[in-house]
Amino acid sequence: MEEPARHYWNTIGAAKEFTHPMDLSWLEGISRDSRILDYGCGYGRIAGQLADAGFGRITGVDVSAALIERGRAARPGLDLRVQADPPRLAAASGSVDVAVLFAVLTCVPADRDQRALVTELDRVLAPGGLVHLSDLLLQSDERNLRRYAGGSPYGVFTTGDGAVCRHHAAEHLRGLFPGYAVVTERRVTVATMNRNSAEALQLLVRKPGSADV
Ligand SMILES: C[S@@+](CC[C@H](N)C(=O)[O-])C[C@H]1O[C@@H](n2cnc3c(N)ncnc32)[C@H](O)[C@@H]1O
Repeated sequence: MEEPARHYWNTIGAAKEFTHPMDLSWLEGISRDSRILDYGCGYGRIAGQLADAGFGRITGVDVSAALIERGRAARPGLDLRVQADPPRLAAASGSVDVAVLFAVLTCVPADRDQRALVTELDRVLAPGGLVHLSDLLLQSDERNLRRYAGGSPYGVFTTGDGAVCRHHAAEHLRGLFPGYAVVTERRVTVATMNRNSAEALQLLVRKPGSADV
């Protein structure tokens, strides 16, 4: 990952509030013993919600030591770890039942970096495992259309406080996990970390193969 990006998430980004909502009913039938990886967990917001819902085997990883520190201070019981060399994960192949990827792709603008992240998640995910992702869609309002102008790929822009972000076509997000089956999806309106309103897509997709999740 680029050093300016890590710097952003260790400074300005470390004070942000993240808001993409998780509909826990999507995980209703899933064993509370499932091994869950919250990739790009920030301060452990989603990991905490999953723990409150009874899941007992959650690991959160994030590139930002500052965000991990914030999460550990707020919820000392959570297993939150700094990811030194993203997208590389310490987890063994096939050792994760459910991967959560909430508002992370928006911070990984390049296609090749997104593909590398997806490849690493696919490596650690068990056959039949689930990926639950939430990310920002291309917006149609004037402010965003101005921000997209000149960005490559289309939808990449720099926020006023220096984060390089990406908004995505729905087909791009659906196509990121080829061969995976879409279990369910929905569109939601979220508050961005800079408190603007934006449309997001949430997907639950399943890796081919049988599983106990
Ligand atoms: C918008 S926040 C979302 C945090 C959390 N998933 C949530 O929804 O509460 C994006 C997170 O992705 C992390 N991140 C940024 N770039 C990353 C990268 N290249 N690889 C992994 N994580 C990254 C940031 O440190 C930040 O915690």
